[in-house]
Amino acid sequence: MSKKNTSQKSKGTVVSIKTKMKAKPAAPKGERVYIFDTTLRDGEQSPGASMTLPEKLQIAELLDQMGVDIIEAGFPIASRGDFEAVSEVAKRVKNAVVCGLARAGEKDITRAADALKAAKNPRIHTFISTSPLHMKYKLNMSPETVLEAVTSSVTLARSFTDDVEWSAEDATRTEADFLCRTVEAAIKAGAGTINIPDTLGYTIPEEYTALIQMLKQRVPGADDIIFSTHCHNDLGMGVANSLAAVIGGARQVECTINGLGERAGNAALEEVVMAINTRQDALPYHTNIDTTLITRASKLVSAVTAFPVQYNKAVVGKNAFAHESGIHQDGMLKNAQTYEIMTPESVGLTQSSLVMGKHSGRHAFKKKLADLGYELPDATFQDAFKRFKDLADRKKEVFDEDISALVGNEMVGMDDKIQFRSLTVISGTDGPQKATIVLDIEGDEQTRESTGEGPVDATFNAIKAIIPHTGRLALYQVSAVTQGTDAQAEVTVRLEEEGRVVTGRSADLDTMVASARAYVSALNKLVAKRETSNLSIVDSSGV
Ligand code: KIV
Ligand code: ZN
Repeated sequence: MSKKNTSQKSKGTVVSIKTKMKAKPAAPKGERVYIFDTTLRDGEQSPGASMTLPEKLQIAELLDQMGVDIIEAGFPIASRGDFEAVSEVAKRVKNAVVCGLARAGEKDITRAADALKAAKNPRIHTFISTSPLHMKYKLNMSPETVLEAVTSSVTLARSFTDDVEWSAEDATRTEADFLCRTVEAAIKAGAGTINIPDTLGYTIPEEYTALIQMLKQRVPGADDIIFSTHCHNDLGMGVANSLAAVIGGARQVECTINGLGERAGNAALEEVVMAINTRQDALPYHTNIDTTLITRASKLVSAVTAFPVQYNKAVVGKNAFAHESGIHQDGMLKNAQTYEIMTPESVGLTQSSLVMGKHSGRHAFKKKLADLGYELPDATFQDAFKRFKDLADRKKEVFDEDISALVGNEMVGMDDKIQFRSLTVISGTDGPQKATIVLDIEGDEQTRESTGEGPVDATFNAIKAIIPHTGRLALYQVSAVTQGTDAQAEVTVRLEEEGRVVTGRSADLDTMVASARAYVSALNKLVAKRETSNLSIVDSSGV
């Protein structure tokens, strides 16, 4: 593992600003706030949000491209899948620091170090609870033993890398004097970043600002390290608390795309970054994030996890830039600033545009994909092009959303063992409904016919007849990609099997075809997950 200290304070790094002319980039305003994204770790811990390796890699690459400073890629001791994810992300990420989480024990820390071996800039993030409640009931450890564990865990982590982050889990419910002692011990042992998590989303902004200020004033060595904030959203104050910590002196914000995360989620990256950008008067800081990639990241995370983004969600919700009332629309027409504090373009939201018709060629399709941010390997591109032509033949108008829905799942299904071939369904008032499906299982084409309580049930039964499994259907959801009766149906299927949760998605003009494809996609992920099942179970001292 290379030993690079990546936790130095900013010395005025320049943010790249896209302008039409090649003007000199504007100097960044205020101090740098580092963005630590934990979508792949804390985000994935949220029930039902589990992701496959290709999905995690796709997200990690986009986060890297966005300018995220630190990507927490997983919790390597938790499972073979987590270990692989951290090591693969470590291999691919070009700019960001790649971080692996570890509890305070030797096994966790060495496993994290192993997973990070290939990282250009590796960080080990080790943590232990410090609140009286957690120490007594969760850890069954005395405060003195916890203090010793802080020193030994950070010391061990530092033997693998110079970049070590230490977290005081449940810091906001920890006694101030004890918190100071643990932070001091972590700094002395060599941690360059000290994280003060609001694990339960319990704090309020003023209190949290004061907590960071108190630590900076009281703890010896505090000036030489970066304080970090990690806020959960249980009382809806995750973002407000994160910004309050920055005001108090924290210079790293831990957050997730769409605010994904345990329980009510973590602070949302897009909200933190856009608040800093929009309110420079009150928040004179800067980040390295290319905000025009925010919408893409939000859509990708939502598609992969099948967690819909609520319509009125700040920054990335469908209605975030919509103006319905007449008074607002009138104001907008006169001057957009009357009802808009940031522009849709600044978060990468473009007008839904009509794409191409059935005469559009490969070149135009490739260009459109690039504009939408997709870069497909050749085989996948050919398949996507065929499906696009098919769609354009059948649908009058093809929009950007149609293209995104069409290719969004192609990208993660490239190496699938089970391939959908065709489906015929008989439905209507006079049952039983019947489905005949053809699947290709690693080159072996198989056909089955089944009946069911409705066409979806019949289709899924036919698939099950070819691939018997014990996965429980936990979610079946259909939505329209665009408007009109010729809109594509986007179907999400979630399966659960022995604690493994997988989600498949697909879009097609035919709802039944989209359903079958989504089900097959989920099954492929289940097969992949079975192969990387848990090595160790996170015990009661886990996160
Ligand atoms: O919420 C929390 O305290 C955590 C820590 C592991 C940082 O996720
Ligand atoms: Zn957390």
